[in-house]
Amino acid sequence: MKRCLQLLILPAIYILTLVLSGCESKTKIGFLMDNTNLERWKKDKELFEKTAKDLKAVPIVKVANSDPELQYQQALELIDEGVDVIVLIPCDINKAIKIVKVAHANNIPVISYDRLVKNCNVDYYISTDNIYLGELQADYLSKISPVGNFALISGPTTDNNAFLIHLGWMNVLQPLIDKGDIKVVIDKHTDFWLPDESYKIMKNFFKNGGKVDAILCGNDALASGAILALKEFGYDGRVLVAGQDADMNAIRNIVAGTQTITIYKPIESLVYATVEAAKKLAKGEAPSNMNITVNNGKRLVPAILIKNIQPINRHNIEMNIIPKGYLKKTEQ
Ligand code: GAL
Repeated sequence: MKRCLQLLILPAIYILTLVLSGCESKTKIGFLMDNTNLERWKKDKELFEKTAKDLKAVPIVKVANSDPELQYQQALELIDEGVDVIVLIPCDINKAIKIVKVAHANNIPVISYDRLVKNCNVDYYISTDNIYLGELQADYLSKISPVGNFALISGPTTDNNAFLIHLGWMNVLQPLIDKGDIKVVIDKHTDFWLPDESYKIMKNFFKNGGKVDAILCGNDALASGAILALKEFGYDGRVLVAGQDADMNAIRNIVAGTQTITIYKPIESLVYATVEAAKKLAKGEAPSNMNITVNNGKRLVPAILIKNIQPINRHNIEMNIIPKGYLKKTEQ
């Protein structure tokens, strides 16, 4: 009899547990993206949606097409849709402050994703060490060309990373500039992280008879614009060029010898750490994975700076890129 009861009760408990866990409300994570016009952001979007689902959360993604006002409206929509946490890639570091404020007014924490929102009480920041990233780029080029003319093309002033990367460049270059070995012949910000502006900057420079030995660019799209101008003037392959993001096009340029280096960022780790932190926050717990604090001008923001960023050059492509599934060996 006892055995009979057991046979009936145990499956019933099992079914009840399954039903109850199915009813448990899932964490809703809002993801406000600046744009998806570059390969890397498409990857962030895809991985974010997949990882959130894998970790039993509901991702709600909105893309602002580089429009800070639209991004604010999208934040309001996310609040209406009842998200537990907002993950924010700001279109504009200053204009995004009001997104953090309105989220907080609705008791929703905000994680600054790969771009820090400055001068506000943003809750967490998850990125890589962008100063170190700039140092890696400058170090690589200045080891090959310790003497010569350098062009610096940073991304937009609306993105804190553009300043951090530039800081990294200067950490390496300043002693060489002071020695008189390196001369900075161009030092400009662009309005967007896109190739047309870097193309125009370099084209104008060459038209006016400018000579350059190395071009440091904030990302691969800027590098590709610079390479286009180099090609037009027949300098491609003879000038060092650095970018970041390990875009397919950059990898091809490295194989072809027109780009010297890119920096690969582990997007998978950024996304995973973010979704993990968001899930904790939704339960009212502090994320346990923060490993540093970063000053945003208003507070020391608890942060994760993912360490394993990787310089990619023509010698280590095979080891680094092909195993990650970026490029098939035959595509080289
Ligand atoms: C920056 C980021 C770069 C690059 C750029 C282009 O914020 O640091 O890795 O992706 O955006 O959108």
